[in-house]
Amino acid sequence: MTEHESWTKKRHLPTDRPVTWVALVGFMGTGKSRIGWELSRYLSLTFIDTDRVIERVSCMRIPDIFELYGEHVFREYETEVVSRCLRLNEVVISSGGGTPLKPENRKMLKSRGPVVMLTASPETIYKRTRRHKRPLLEIGNPTERIRELMAARQAAYEDVASFRVSTDGRNSEDVVSEIVKKLWRWQESSR
Ligand code: S3P
Repeated sequence: MTEHESWTKKRHLPTDRPVTWVALVGFMGTGKSRIGWELSRYLSLTFIDTDRVIERVSCMRIPDIFELYGEHVFREYETEVVSRCLRLNEVVISSGGGTPLKPENRKMLKSRGPVVMLTASPETIYKRTRRHKRPLLEIGNPTERIRELMAARQAAYEDVASFRVSTDGRNSEDVVSEIVKKLWRWQESSR
C-alpha cells in the first residue's frame, strides 16, 4: 500500500469526526481549494468551492465577471453563495480570498461553525498564483500588490477565523492533520 493509499484509508467514519461543517478562508494561493478538497476526503464530507459555484451558476469565469460587470457584482454573487452554504450540512467550504472582507459574510460564516484561516508568505503566494489569472493581482508589481492586499485584509481574516494554519512549505497531509487536531480542540471548547 502506498503512503497516500494508507492515508486515504484513515478517513473518518461519520461518528468519528470533529465537525460536519467547516469553512476555509485566506488569501489567494494559501491553498484553500487543495486543502479543502483533501480535508473533505479525510472527514468524508462534501467539498464546495464558492468560486466554482459562482462560475457554474453564472456560466462565466471569474476574470470575465470582474471585467464585464465589475468586482461589486462578483461580491454580490459571493454573498449569495455564502448565505446558501449556511443551509448545508456535511460540507467543507472553500471561500474566495476576498469573502471575509464584507462584515455580513464574516457574521454568516462565524455563526455557522468553525472557520479555518490558511496562511502563506507573499513569496509562496506569488509562486502559486502567477500561472492563474487573478484579476486583483494584475495591477503593478505582483509581490508588492500581494503584500498590500494581505496587510489590508489581515484584520478581516483574523476577525472571522476560529484558528489559523500555515501551508508554507508543507504537504497537504501535514496541513490537514493540523486542521483536524485544531477542529477537535475547537469542538471541545465550544461544547
Ligand atoms: C479573490 C480571490 C479569488 C476569487 C476572486 C477574488 C480575492 O479566489 O474569489 O478572484 O478578492 O482575493 P481565490 O482566493 O480562491 O484565488
